[in-house]
Order: sequence, then structure tokens, then C-alpha cells
Amino acid sequence: MKLSYFLSCFNTNQSQQQQEEQEETGGQTVSNSNFSVFSYNQIKTATQGFRQKIGEGGFGSVYKGRLQDGIFVAVKVLSVELESMRGEREFISEIAALSDIKHENLVTLRGCCIDGAKRLLVYDYMENNSLLHTFLGGERNRMKFSWTLRRNISLGIAKALSYLHEEVNPHIIHRDIKASNILLDENFTPKLADFGLARLFRENMSHISTRVAGTMGYLSPEYATSGHLTRKSDVYSFGVLLLEIVSGRPVIDYHLRYGDQFLVEKAWESYSSNNLLELVDPVLSGDFAKEEAIRFIKVGLLCVQETTKLRPRMSRAFEMLTTEMETEEVEISRPGIVADMMELKIRQKQSSHFSSSQASSSTGSFQARLLIMTD
Ligand SMILES: Nc1ncnc2c1ncn2[C@@H]1O[C@H](COP(=O)(O)OP(=O)(O)O)[C@@H](O)[C@H]1O
Ligand SMILES: [Mg+2]
Repeated sequence: MKLSYFLSCFNTNQSQQQQEEQEETGGQTVSNSNFSVFSYNQIKTATQGFRQKIGEGGFGSVYKGRLQDGIFVAVKVLSVELESMRGEREFISEIAALSDIKHENLVTLRGCCIDGAKRLLVYDYMENNSLLHTFLGGERNRMKFSWTLRRNISLGIAKALSYLHEEVNPHIIHRDIKASNILLDENFTPKLADFGLARLFRENMSHISTRVAGTMGYLSPEYATSGHLTRKSDVYSFGVLLLEIVSGRPVIDYHLRYGDQFLVEKAWESYSSNNLLELVDPVLSGDFAKEEAIRFIKVGLLCVQETTKLRPRMSRAFEMLTTEMETEEVEISRPGIVADMMELKIRQKQSSHFSSSQASSSTGSFQARLLIMTD
């Protein structure tokens, strides 16, 4: 299938003749004014030959670029075996559908590029990188995040997830909610990245679904152990993220003593001893709304409950975050904690070559999940 064919299918400024040709060939029409299929040369020019690498994740490398019209983009070069990917036509229609999903708290997908076996995704570039990089990257970084900003980031992400879960039809389960997928634009507006990526792979590619499965510490226990995936798995990961935002601590911190390493466990302990405020980030120096912070932690704990049914839907979580006193009377049951179980398995499998510090990286997490699934 020729690229030019796809270009004609997806270019909304196409001529009458092109439209007729498209009808003749039975081409799919996707009305989407912001979506483009770029040529490899266009991407090469935009990235100045892939000069500025801005990150590396489970799917490959990400480069900064600038399109002809001046817009800055992040180009993700997928490093996945071709057999796992959908064929060109399907791939492009999935991208077109995904780029049509728009929300102020979702990163915009501008288009893609296919060049032989290569598949590239083009996103809007986010000036302030990710929560992992900009927020969790040390005490000095966290000082820039006031309580109000943390509140807005949490609510923005809750809105984006409610939208994907409850407004998009058919709904989208994100599968990989984590600090590095919360990007921040020039105004520090949070934008959820990487939603719907699983759609780009062929069905029944179990190793690929493993790859998009999520990151250690953020994984709900039912998903980590049995692969059972529902929207409530995202709710679990959102709960973890919320606890991270309030506490300024990463979900797993191997620098701490063994009993304190897992944030969810720590939060449950603070809740059980009726001392939730101890969890709030000390860099805020007490400069935060106390009741609100307690409410946020409680909602976080509600989201990470072991029993899936008891976790709120995302719209309900948003409501609780924004409604005074709502969580006062709510009973919270024990959280599901998968991280220490993984840790145990990882320790049992010292033959796999990654240390515990590597295990907190996304690549490590995929390996950790593989271990669980193959046991
Ligand atoms: N749209 C974007 N704008 C700016 N930086 C980005 C963008 N997308 C990704 N990045 C950076 O590239 C890194 C790697 O992204 P990705 O491949 O999605 O892996 P991961 O989400 O596991 O970190 C991110 O952590 C982030 O720092
Ligand atoms: Mg990402």
C-alpha cells in the first residue's frame, strides 16, 4: 500500500478527484482536520536528523522536532517488531481515530509516519517534560510545585481518565498510568500521554500486551497476577499517582529503609495510625490546605483498594476530590500491594540481570511483569 494513497485518504484538503479515487479504491475516509501522515523525509527534517533525543521508554526513543509550520513536536520511534504491529492501513486508521480523541488534559497526537518497517508517532511537544522528570526528580524540583499546582495536576489527570473511561465510546483503558506519562505543557497544565497505544498492535500479541501492561508499583494486583484488565486497573494506578503527587515520593523508593520503600504501604500505615498528614510532602512546609490534602490521600487510598469493586469509577474519584467532606465517612479497606511481591520474585530470580534500582525504570517493570506472568 502506497503512502501517497494514505495521504490522499487522510488529507482533509483533498481534491474532488482525489475523493473520487478514494471512493473507487474503497479507501477509508477519516474526517480529522488535525491528522497527518508525514513522510520520513519530513520527519528527518523536522528533527534535524533525529539530533535531539528527549527520552527513551518501553517502545523506543523520543526526539524533539519542529514542523514546517513552526510547531514543536515529540517524535516517538517505535522499536517494536513489525509482525507485532498492525498492518499499514489498520495502523493509520487507529492513529486517525486516536488523534481524534481530544481533551485539554490529553497529549495531542498529530499523526504518524510509516517508512518500510519503521513506525513513528508525532505528538505535541510538552515544554515541561513529565512528572517523573520535573516533579519527582529531587527536592529542588518539587519546591516548584505548590499545593495549588499539585491539586490542578491531580484534577486534570482525573478529568482525562474520566473522559477516556466514561465519555469516549468505546472506552479506552490506558494501562500505563505513571508519572512519566503525565506530561506538563508550558503552563504546567497536565497532559496524559500514551493512551490507546495497545490499539496499534495486532490482537493476541500476548508479549506486546505484556509490554504495554504497565509499570511496577502502579500495577493493580489483579492485573499483575492474572492479566485481568478493567478500568479499575487504571483507577488503581491513578490512586498511586495521587499519593505520589501529595507526598512527593515515588511509588517505590529503594533509597529508603525496607519497611518504607512502598508508598502505598506507607500511606495505609499512616491511615491506620490516623496520621495522614505525615505523608504530605515536607517541601510544602505546611503551606497547603490540610483538609484537602487529607481528602486527596483518602481518595488515593480508595483507588488502590485491593477489592476492585470497592474502587471508585474515575468520575466518582473526581467528584470526591472536589467535594468538601465527602470522604469523612467513607470506609477504606486495605490496599492491594503488588510491589513487594514483585520484589520477592525478582530476588528469587537473580539470574535476570537487573538490579533493584533499575527495576524502578519502565524497562525493568516490563521485565518484572514478564517474570510474574511466566511463573
Ligand atoms: N510529547 C512529549 N513532549 C515532551 N517530552 C516527551 C513527550 N513524549 C515523551 N517525552 C519524553 O520522553 C520520555 C520517554 O517517553 P516514552 O517513550 O513514552 O516512555 P515512558 O512513558 O515510559 O517514559 C518521557 O519520559 C518524556 O520525558
Ligand atoms: Mg510515555
